[in-house]
Amino acid sequence: MIPDKAPKEDVFHGSDDLKKEAHISSFEKYKELYMKSVESPGEFWGDIAKDFFWKTKHTGQFLDYNFDVTRGEIFVKCMDGASTNISYNLLDRNVHERKLGDKVAFYWEGNEPGDELTVTYRELLQRVCQFANVLKSQGVKKGDRVSIYMPMVVELVVAMLACARIGAVHSIVFAGFSAESLCERIMDSQCSLLITADGFYRGDKLINLKLLADEALQKCRDKGFPMQKCIMLKHLSKEAEDTSLDSQSPPAKRPCPGLQVPWNPDVDLCWLSLTRGASDECEPEWCDSEDPLFILYTSGSTGKPKGVLHTVSGYMLYTATTFKLVFDYQPDDVYWCTADIGWITGHSYITYGPLANGATSVLFEGLPTYPDVSRMWEIVDKYLVTKFYTAPTAIRLLMKYGREPVQKFKRESLKVLGTVGEPINPEAWQWYYNVVGERRCPVVDTFWQTETGGHVLTPLPAATPMKPGSATFPFFGVVPAILNESGEELEGPSEGYLVFKRPWPGVMRTVFGNHQRFETIYFKKFPGYYVTGDGCRRDKDGYYWITGRIDDMLNVSGHLLSTAEVESALVEHEAVAEAAVVGRPHPVKGESLYCFVTLNDGLTFNRTLEAELKKQVREKIGAIATPDFIQNAPGLPKTRSGKIMRRVLRKIACGERDLGDISTLADSSVVEQLFQNRCGAAV
Ligand code: PRX
Repeated sequence: MIPDKAPKEDVFHGSDDLKKEAHISSFEKYKELYMKSVESPGEFWGDIAKDFFWKTKHTGQFLDYNFDVTRGEIFVKCMDGASTNISYNLLDRNVHERKLGDKVAFYWEGNEPGDELTVTYRELLQRVCQFANVLKSQGVKKGDRVSIYMPMVVELVVAMLACARIGAVHSIVFAGFSAESLCERIMDSQCSLLITADGFYRGDKLINLKLLADEALQKCRDKGFPMQKCIMLKHLSKEAEDTSLDSQSPPAKRPCPGLQVPWNPDVDLCWLSLTRGASDECEPEWCDSEDPLFILYTSGSTGKPKGVLHTVSGYMLYTATTFKLVFDYQPDDVYWCTADIGWITGHSYITYGPLANGATSVLFEGLPTYPDVSRMWEIVDKYLVTKFYTAPTAIRLLMKYGREPVQKFKRESLKVLGTVGEPINPEAWQWYYNVVGERRCPVVDTFWQTETGGHVLTPLPAATPMKPGSATFPFFGVVPAILNESGEELEGPSEGYLVFKRPWPGVMRTVFGNHQRFETIYFKKFPGYYVTGDGCRRDKDGYYWITGRIDDMLNVSGHLLSTAEVESALVEHEAVAEAAVVGRPHPVKGESLYCFVTLNDGLTFNRTLEAELKKQVREKIGAIATPDFIQNAPGLPKTRSGKIMRRVLRKIACGERDLGDISTLADSSVVEQLFQNRCGAAV
């Protein structure tokens, strides 16, 4: 499956310098280890597990599983029976055994240049223990779910690791999501506590986060789910912290114009006053390997987000190992992943993977374009970042401003560049490689999902010859296949459904509260395989190229959205009878939302309604889901059985007249009308 020899033509190689110190320094070495990882997974992962702390050893098979629905329930177990604690492995082990207490865990860089903090491993351990004690004092126990709705601050990492320390399950909701989305996630996971902050700035825009959190809690109450407790961090109203506060009082000062911090003394508690008196020692809760670690919601094609559940040991081993090998982590590295911790990339490659390795990372609160489009490169030079990980959408955005903002800074420290979130177009890849990395740094195009926990298809920077736009080959222990519609495995160069034939330690274990949904979504279509939902092509050299989603999902700026979710937000508006949403290619975002709406009888479409509908989607889901286009659609193209032909709508959205076979359309006259009502120029 993996070629014996890597191709020599049309490929890019990592630098010789990198190869000298690399963990995996050649393609041959990769292949040899890969074979070991699939032939003897227990031995392969067992060797890696030796570096971690286990309170008790595992008993059964290292990795036990069933991936075949026809044989019974789907399950994956890694090191079942062993007990450990992930926060102990990330913090205590690094401070006490590996003597990294004084090493910087995070350089926090705020939204405003000059707003910065440094946190060592020892400090992080103390703060996590303190906050773990706070959680315990609030009655949070092992297995309880805790929602976290916070900006990119060190306390977000503290909160998640404090949960992990006491065996509570964190459910982080990206701070860009709406109150409605937060409410839905709190209710689905039946959380007992919410942790949030007063507010934060994204560039020059103030986000009143506590206001949104309160709105969400009110919605929960209205729906019969009263949340008893909310801990709020004063991030923007910091100055107030000097005055003595008890946990029942609202912040005394509000120095940010426009900052609104509603306070409900029956529910709200102040982070600072709670932690002030808390002990900085906390014995970890020893968890079973398969105990839940966290839930993270991702869009589901039915429109209802799914709570992807990851468990302790497998996720720990997998994120630690992928981080170490994919970024070729070395002890003197300064690593920076620009993702938000609210997404899986931040979970795995800001918190868990880097800390498990004792790495030093940059934790950035701001935007790549604020205060100007050089910000990223300024930060790279400021901290001498060596490994840099971002999204294709950010690269495309910065490309628009040319080389000058990049070249204002030296970037000499950079050694490896990475991308994640969507297919990277070769032009953006080349720009990243040539302009940002000055042809010195390999680009690791990492394909993975919230569900996979960590990278599954990816180059290794010193070992894999790169092809711009290809995620190249599987990571250790991962066995991909390409299937046709009938579920037959295709050999050699081919294109079809990307699936995985067996688990790796970091794969998700279930959809929270709905195991059947987990089985249906990922395992039913092709029994025996985990179905990614992505299309994929394998070329003559065995390289994998992701071609994009093949379900009803859209990828906007690297974030998955389901068309059904946006459609249901639209039809909740009283004017809308029916809605259909498709993706339209966008030069920066990858895809943008193009919505067709059929109005109720007698209503007319106008700008006011269009603005209302955009607002409605933003309020229901969040700003990332704001439609770019809303088109009046008196009729939608449907088959005789009433199914909307999205393929036709996608062409209309792009202004492409070649519609292919439309003989199954019930009424072909709607098509012409839709072309006449189109919004925006052709792409
Ligand atoms: O379609 C693939 C795309 O993002 C999806 C997963 O989205 P999410 O769970 O939000 O996680 C994003 C961060 C891991 C995939 O099914 N995707 C992710 N990385 C790549 C990608 N598509 C192509 N190339 C990638 N490197």
